[in-house]
Amino acid sequence: MCGIVGYVGKRQAAPILLEGLHRLEYRGYDSAGIAIGGKTRLQIAKRKGRVRELDELRPLRFKGTFGIAHTRWATHGEPSDRNAHPHCDASGRYAVVHNGIVENAAALKAQLVEHGCVFTSDTDTEVFAHLIALMDDGSPLEAVVGAVLRRIVGAYGLAVADAHRPGTLVVARNGSPVVLGIGDSEMFVASDPSALVRHTTSVVHLNDGEIAAVRADGYETRTLDGAPTSSTPSTIAWKDEAFDKGTFDHYMRKEIAEQPDAVRRTLSGRLDTRFQTAHLGGVTMAARDLLDVRRVKILGCGTARIAGAVGADLIEQLARIPADAEAASEFRYRNAVIERDTLYIAVSQSGETFDTIAAVQEVKRKGGRVMGVVNAAGSTIARECGQGIYLHAGPEVSVVSTKTFTCTAVAFTLLAIHLGRLRDLSVANGARLIGALQELPDRIAAILEREPEIASLAKLVAPAEHAFFIGRAAGHAVAAEGALKLKEISYLHAEAYPAAELKHGPLALISPQTPTIVILPRDSLFSKNISTIEEIKARGGPVIAITHPGDAPTKFDGAIEVPALEPELDPLLLNIPMQLLAYHVALLRGTNIDQPRNLAKSVTVE
Ligand code: BG6
Repeated sequence: MCGIVGYVGKRQAAPILLEGLHRLEYRGYDSAGIAIGGKTRLQIAKRKGRVRELDELRPLRFKGTFGIAHTRWATHGEPSDRNAHPHCDASGRYAVVHNGIVENAAALKAQLVEHGCVFTSDTDTEVFAHLIALMDDGSPLEAVVGAVLRRIVGAYGLAVADAHRPGTLVVARNGSPVVLGIGDSEMFVASDPSALVRHTTSVVHLNDGEIAAVRADGYETRTLDGAPTSSTPSTIAWKDEAFDKGTFDHYMRKEIAEQPDAVRRTLSGRLDTRFQTAHLGGVTMAARDLLDVRRVKILGCGTARIAGAVGADLIEQLARIPADAEAASEFRYRNAVIERDTLYIAVSQSGETFDTIAAVQEVKRKGGRVMGVVNAAGSTIARECGQGIYLHAGPEVSVVSTKTFTCTAVAFTLLAIHLGRLRDLSVANGARLIGALQELPDRIAAILEREPEIASLAKLVAPAEHAFFIGRAAGHAVAAEGALKLKEISYLHAEAYPAAELKHGPLALISPQTPTIVILPRDSLFSKNISTIEEIKARGGPVIAITHPGDAPTKFDGAIEVPALEPELDPLLLNIPMQLLAYHVALLRGTNIDQPRNLAKSVTVE
């Protein structure tokens, strides 16, 4: 996934675009570039590396009031100066920045080479620039680009600038997000609102198959065939500073610290103490339709999928509805049997993850019922689902997801209570859980204060090359999240296993150099987990326990005790120390915490 940004107005475009690129860098950070429209030609700078490396080419010297820019997450062609965007035609008149994949690029390239076009990069994107140059018959740029796009197979969020049509940008969307920002005699375009919130909070989300001509005085949206379309601007809820790191060294640490307030926002207005249930205004399915739900299937990617697994366990426990979570990328291609009385729930922080979008579209195509649990308001998944639960967790910029994991688990707790109280979850149980949810933010804050203890545990893990995370029942899902966090930011190979599975193979890898982190709540499976710990210790494996206070029947190499709340919410609390553990292991290993190698905040390509 890449980040594209554009500006047309009366101000100098370069500083606005570079600032936008810095904001979008979590979308991809292996190369960056900019094209500023001058009087007669485009001024281009691009190179491999981060946006700060692009700054060294001094693009601020480019004068001009319209332009486009890009930060890349490579799909076609390795990160390099020549594969960085923007891509131009031979004359340098047209510049294109693109987020997505052109599936028929090879065929188009062959035709273009036959036409004498010379390619200067290995990217699929370059075909756009050559096609526009070949097909420009002088009609409005959006008509030319529309004609080009009718020949394209694949996904794109695209922005085009033409030196001979100063003051006009053309943008288009098919699968990858494009947002227009409406200013006062100026317009902005971006892959997401974080790049333009400093200048405007009034935005229009382009739909798939839409193209827009953007000028300082406004914009027009059309279909690729030229039929006008209409769109209603929406307002970005978050202030500009919400997208800044503030006093924290890393966005990840800031977002970990924001969890108590984020959870308060997820809960806000949703605790119904009269009926001891959860009120979910965004779930538009009638209660009787929710009563007909016989199964719940949760779909997502990465951390969203794991938070979905925590949700599935809660729905099965509290509403007694069979539920499970599945990787959206697998679900969409396995020709799943869609059942009328199954509720499909798409989980996504960004709301733009391509595989999850496609899974939702697959369910809808087959007539299934969908809802979303999403953080980004107005995002594609939210609009595709049409109903669901917004997290209100605030912007999450760090590539590794932390606060939205916690808020998603809270959202699922609310949904499970809601579904359960429509069935046989008692008033007393409803009250017990509502009471516990009200305590949750303070409980999380108390755990965050124990950071120094957790940081010292990190010293036991940082030198290792491999680590295991184990747990039982909901503890296994949390173990999976712990392993993913450690992998994502410390590049330490971490695997999560159901605790009892260890002896069926992975135990062979246990050694004094391989620590095991155990999710060890004091529940009915406590003694079973202790037996597994004994098996590990018998083979010299170091054990770190994330557990509840009380006498430990065996000695751990390290432990963090988290006060118990309620069995349904304890897994969520036991996850908090693991976020800090991963953070401090990464600090000790000196990796790039907010922009780990090879990753991106959400992947909008297949
Ligand atoms: C990955 C992110 O690209 O996408 C993960 O690095 C995230 O943190 C996953 O969990 C899914 O993203 P989303 O936005 O659909 O929750």
